[in-house]
Amino acid sequence: MSKALSGVRILDFTHVQSGPTCTQLLAWLGADVIKVERPGEGDATRGQLRDIPGVDSLYFTMLNHNKRSVTLNTKKPKGKQVLETLIKQCDVLVENFAPGAMERMGLSWEHINKLNPRMIVASVKGFGPGRYEDCKVYENVAQCAGGAASTTGFEDGPPVVTGAQIGDSGTGLHLALGILAALYQRTHSGRGQKVLAPMQDAVLNLCRVKLRDQQRLERTGSLHEYPQYPDGKFGEAVPRAGNASGGGQPGWILRCKGWETDPNAYIYFITQAAVWPSVCKVIGEEGWITDEAYATPQARLLHLKPIFARIEQWTMTKTKFEAMEILNEYDIPCGPILSMKEIAEDPWLRKSGTVVEVEHPTRGKHLTVGNPIKLSDSPTEVLRAPLLGEHTEEVLMELGYDAHDLEVLRADGAI
Ligand code: COA
Repeated sequence: MSKALSGVRILDFTHVQSGPTCTQLLAWLGADVIKVERPGEGDATRGQLRDIPGVDSLYFTMLNHNKRSVTLNTKKPKGKQVLETLIKQCDVLVENFAPGAMERMGLSWEHINKLNPRMIVASVKGFGPGRYEDCKVYENVAQCAGGAASTTGFEDGPPVVTGAQIGDSGTGLHLALGILAALYQRTHSGRGQKVLAPMQDAVLNLCRVKLRDQQRLERTGSLHEYPQYPDGKFGEAVPRAGNASGGGQPGWILRCKGWETDPNAYIYFITQAAVWPSVCKVIGEEGWITDEAYATPQARLLHLKPIFARIEQWTMTKTKFEAMEILNEYDIPCGPILSMKEIAEDPWLRKSGTVVEVEHPTRGKHLTVGNPIKLSDSPTEVLRAPLLGEHTEEVLMELGYDAHDLEVLRADGAI
């Protein structure tokens, strides 16, 4: 069966997480992704956070599935020549080097565009044009500069970063979308273009609702669904909202049976207006269905803390899974707080191809997260990440190099 992106060739010049996430998605959608890495060491993540000495880390293997790896020293003239051959034969170049690194390699947009006017050049940078455009950026820097950290955490604590890699993987996802749009536009225009996804912008895009709240706060001086309402004070900026829901249906994280010893015995509970009578029935507070203080969403905003405290008295009598079962019968939106252990062992996630076991030649079996985007005509088969330079020969032969050329390149240290 052909894949959605069959025939699209990606020159993957990415490293660490943001860029590799993007190219991994494109590989899962069927593109031929050729990862170019420095001879000897490769992507720095191969050696970072290692759990088995001498074996590619999970950090690397979980971000580079379905790719081919080519080693190339692009700072050597012969290596650069090979890279330029690749540029001529690929559709997209994806990179996430520090600002200026591509230019220092002699790979300006103008130069690439001259070599291959159809090539799409896609970049992740920490920041877009402006005061920080020359800065190197990692995940948490983007979370802080994109508005996520200032709005995450509890009101009496410091800013908090989230475990979800919204700066890296979030930006990779945005970049992949830009690449697909550029590929589509190329079908009409015949031209390549630059695609830029700054990490600050991607994080801010994911924090869109907080900029919504900033403007609501400036207009009204208060945010009624935030825990600071009605007793606390609001300042000039959107405060940290703890576990309050980001939308119009109040929610909070509540303790469940076993919370004293299990740090994840919690449930997220949403008091959706449509099912308020059911919430009242489940917790044994039928009076609240008609009581003026609780009957309308507006009235309830004044009493969210006591409401959730009362619901918690009920959730604490059930495990999170028991509570889920009961609440789902009433269509009450809720979600168990799942630990990574529970997720790794979840049979349904295995069955759906979301958690996948992969065999790797040097590490053996490991778990990975499969493609979260499911296409009915382009199913994803998750393949292991390549070893460093595993496909150098294969790819160079495809480009027209012969055994003698390879020997010369090897002797020169270019591959
Ligand atoms: N052959 C020869 N040289 C190579 C090479 C290859 N195959 N691949 C990379 N290099 C060189 C680059 O040319 C660059 O050299 P230079 O500094 O002399 O110009 C160097 O390797 C490394 O580039 P750099 O990107 O600066 O790496 P770093 O490890 O110092 O910084 C980041 C890492 C992530 C901070 C930085 O790349 C960055 O800010 N990227 C953009 C934002 C981003 O994606 N951040 C999230 C990462 S998950």
